[in-house]
Amino acid sequence: MTKPIEHHPVRLRRSVLCVPADNVRALAKVSQLAADAAIFDLEDAVAPERKAEARDGLVRHLTESRPDCEIVIRINALGSGFGQQDLAAALQAKPDAILLPKVESPADIQIAADWLADNDAPESLRLWAMIETPRGVVNAPAIAETGRTFGGRLDCFVVGLNDLRKETGVPDRPGRPYLIPWLMQILLAARGSGLDVIDAVFNDFRDTDGFDEECRQGRDMGYDGKMLIHPLQIGPANERFGVEQAAVDEARAIIAVFALPENADKGVISLHGRMIERLHLDQALKLAAKADTIEKRKARF
Ligand code: COA
Ligand code: MG
Repeated sequence: MTKPIEHHPVRLRRSVLCVPADNVRALAKVSQLAADAAIFDLEDAVAPERKAEARDGLVRHLTESRPDCEIVIRINALGSGFGQQDLAAALQAKPDAILLPKVESPADIQIAADWLADNDAPESLRLWAMIETPRGVVNAPAIAETGRTFGGRLDCFVVGLNDLRKETGVPDRPGRPYLIPWLMQILLAARGSGLDVIDAVFNDFRDTDGFDEECRQGRDMGYDGKMLIHPLQIGPANERFGVEQAAVDEARAIIAVFALPENADKGVISLHGRMIERLHLDQALKLAAKADTIEKRKARF
């Protein structure tokens, strides 16, 4: 059955921190950090000879301690020799979502979704997909659509530019000039099927100006947040992918003006010399809800 397209505005995914599953100190630190989501990584961040230890340690850790954020586990590719055991361990660790690396076709989602259904995974367990290969980018619309057609578990894309640069030969340049078309293609595919979409990591975590610039760019491209590698990046990402006070004020003004009795049956009105339609009211309600959710989260960190 096909799910209706619906974007969840109040689920915050501004800062999505990657944590190597075999790094005990980093694991322990997550509960003190204000990241909206943590990706516990069993894939690229863990060397092949440490995979088994990382997998067992992660299950133990998440059984004993649950950070106050969305919990995601990135498994190895199902064809890699590690993926099947990772998937079984992930089910035991009860994350909110499992992130599949190097997704290249709808079948990659379908196989994982079928396995989860066969193994009685709760309906609430989501799938996220890394789009980080040329085939992944080319097939992004079909991959996104499987989220609505096969079990409906897929709800987020994460862009992986380190792999994509390696596979395509596009160099790492400030402003990401030749990557923008692909970033926008992935965004469009995600939105067309109602998915969230997270921008790629910025490797040079000491370069705060460069990071800020890239966050602004990701936000202006419509991304929900950024995948992060270091705690230093959390605050700036929360800021940039959050809401601007002027925009919240304007949203509240739009909500107020449409709530006036004389505007109850109007589709379009004028506010401060600008045309406002009911679609702007929908946007304003989403933005105000996001602002409220951010305030509540701030109170906890
Ligand atoms: N998650 C949680 N805590 C982290 C962290 C992370 N990703 N990265 C660093 N920290 C912690 C460190 O454990 C340290 O805390 P401690 O003093 O209590 O031990 C503190 O933050 C400062 O770390 P720092 O010394 O500045 O970093 P580092 O040199 O130890 O590590 C990296 C730098 C890049 C190796 C590390 O940040 C990292 O592994 N990031 C994630 C990489 C990853 O997941 N890659 C795959 C996906 S792209
Ligand atoms: Mg990768």
